[in-house]
Amino acid sequence: MTATVTLIPGDGIGPEIVDGAVRVFEAAGADVGWDRQLAGVAAMEEGLGPLPDETTDSILENKVALKGPLTTPVGEGFRSINVALRKHFDLYANVRPAKTLMRGGRYEDVDLIVIRENTEGLYVGIEHFIGMEEDPEAAAESVMIVTRYGAERIARFAFDYAVTHDRRKVTLVHKANILKCTQGLFLEVGRKIAEDYAGRIEFEDRIVDNTAMQLVVDPYQFDVIVTENMFGDILSDEASGLIGGLGLAPGANIGNHAAIFEAVHGSAPDIAGQGIANPSAVILAGCMMFDYLGASEVAERVREALTTALAGPVRTRDLGGDASTREFSHAIIEELRD
Ligand code: NAI
Ligand code: MG
Repeated sequence: MTATVTLIPGDGIGPEIVDGAVRVFEAAGADVGWDRQLAGVAAMEEGLGPLPDETTDSILENKVALKGPLTTPVGEGFRSINVALRKHFDLYANVRPAKTLMRGGRYEDVDLIVIRENTEGLYVGIEHFIGMEEDPEAAAESVMIVTRYGAERIARFAFDYAVTHDRRKVTLVHKANILKCTQGLFLEVGRKIAEDYAGRIEFEDRIVDNTAMQLVVDPYQFDVIVTENMFGDILSDEASGLIGGLGLAPGANIGNHAAIFEAVHGSAPDIAGQGIANPSAVILAGCMMFDYLGASEVAERVREALTTALAGPVRTRDLGGDASTREFSHAIIEELRD
């Protein structure tokens, strides 16, 4: 069965790393059709809006997308297209594994997963300025939204994920000591859902600042972390730092009707266009996509080839080497041919 997936090359380093990923999956014999679509700055440069209808229609039809990073202007301009896509398709669960693939880092054998609520919290983007006297921007206000519905479905997703992936423990991360309503509700709901899994999956809760410290001191105590939107954003970048950095960290945005797979990292404007970005994160996101499509054999072959290539001398600069994106992609393809 040939699957068709929407392919969004994205902005900045996006087209370079996505090109590497496509070549790797083709070399692995993946039975897939790529439906290329534009979004973000790349779409605007073609005279379209940042999220063209053709792109959302394509995802609606294919139900699965692999996407490069999209640039969001800081502090002004259009809102994040990444957030817009997650909202549009109600992709409520953001799954971000942090697993050691390369020896010689700060830690060996880290293997944890951050599951982040992807549609609520502060990232709903309800915010405004408040004017006082002469200053129209004297203050600013953001609203954090937590619903029982949203908290329930992400907690249940995390426990079901733990069950289906042979995990032992779920840690719910919150700030309920200070934010008693929003974070309190998130915690209360999580505790209740945990009861349904008692005896099968261990449960604990932690305050976010302590978790940030504990992750650095002893990452092995964590297994599956479930948390709200912004905490998950921050902790998943932190977790990627434990395993060699953003160049190695993939993510999946999953809803009931669609899924979009992408790297945790952004468009890296500081190195865009130089052909030196690490394609591993987007390749690993592609592996998560093939797992999701039921083609775990392809996913496993590519993960193995990538792991072997990472142990060799050809590495990108973020991992201490001097190889280009193409050279490293080629090293993976060579491993696939062996
Ligand atoms: P970033 O993740 O793009 O870059 C952070 C640092 O990591 C930079 O020094 C960069 O060179 C490095 N880096 C990232 N990916 C790398 C790779 N594959 N290989 C080697 N080095 C890599 O974060 P930043 O600079 O904060 O954001 C840049 C833009 O990306 C912003 O417009 C932001 O909104 C957007 N962004 C998009 C995301 C998405 O599409 N899902 C996620 C995060 C940020
Ligand atoms: Mg982020």
